[in-house]
Amino acid sequence: MMKNTTISRRTFMKGAAATAVVVSAGGLLSACASQEAAPADAARDEPAQEEPEQAQEEPAQEAADEATPADGILVAYFSGTGNTQGIAEAIAVELDADTFVITPVDPYSRDDLGYNNPDSRTSQERNDPNRSVELEQVTPDNFDSYGTVFLGYPIWWGNASWAIDNFVSGNDFTGKTVIPFCTSGSSPIGSSAQDLAAMAGTGEWREGRRFGAGSVDDASAWLGELGY
Ligand SMILES: Cc1cc2nc3c(=O)[nH]c(=O)nc-3n(C[C@H](O)[C@H](O)[C@H](O)COP(=O)(O)O)c2cc1C
Repeated sequence: MMKNTTISRRTFMKGAAATAVVVSAGGLLSACASQEAAPADAARDEPAQEEPEQAQEEPAQEAADEATPADGILVAYFSGTGNTQGIAEAIAVELDADTFVITPVDPYSRDDLGYNNPDSRTSQERNDPNRSVELEQVTPDNFDSYGTVFLGYPIWWGNASWAIDNFVSGNDFTGKTVIPFCTSGSSPIGSSAQDLAAMAGTGEWREGRRFGAGSVDDASAWLGELGY
């Protein structure tokens, strides 16, 4: 599982950083010790070694943190009728990942989702070049801590549901791996994931995957193919 691999790497990097700090702290201690040796005898009772050790502690932790890439996994998704939610939650459980629900301020009702009704909200938005679905929260809490973002959405008329557009365009995915997935009645993922990658403009986007409703086993197998 990638999580373990990442943890091992993190542990290794922290170890390496700690070793570097010990070596440099050792050098510094020697230097300080030789500087401390010069003053008159009256100063000898001072705990000369304690101060440099404390001074090294904080920078050591900072150095280790800087050297460690974010290794958290987030499953972010929008779901109108629950199908994408089912796949997203299965992924999150399998990976022990956090979830973030992309939530429109004005939620989509059943009538809103009526794709056979030309007057429904989605039908109207489909033809609106200026559509913008305002979200309750664009950037997940602690977004910096995630190195991998699974991004789930339903297919609407062959494209990614535009309910996620403001999430995609409103976040900086630099340094993150983004793994798109979608659900649909029958349509393939098509170019929807590439379109989202272009909209984001940042992040390392991997090839996406389409699932049918309730295809939890397929999602589990897919995670295995991805190396998770
Ligand atoms: C507005 C709208 C448009 C849709 N367009 C398509 C489509 O083009 N192709 C398709 O296979 N399914 C289409 N569907 C079906 C959904 O993609 C499918 O039910 C999906 O699993 C819904 O996910 P959700 O339950 O997470 O919202 C559409 C559904 C809606 C509401």
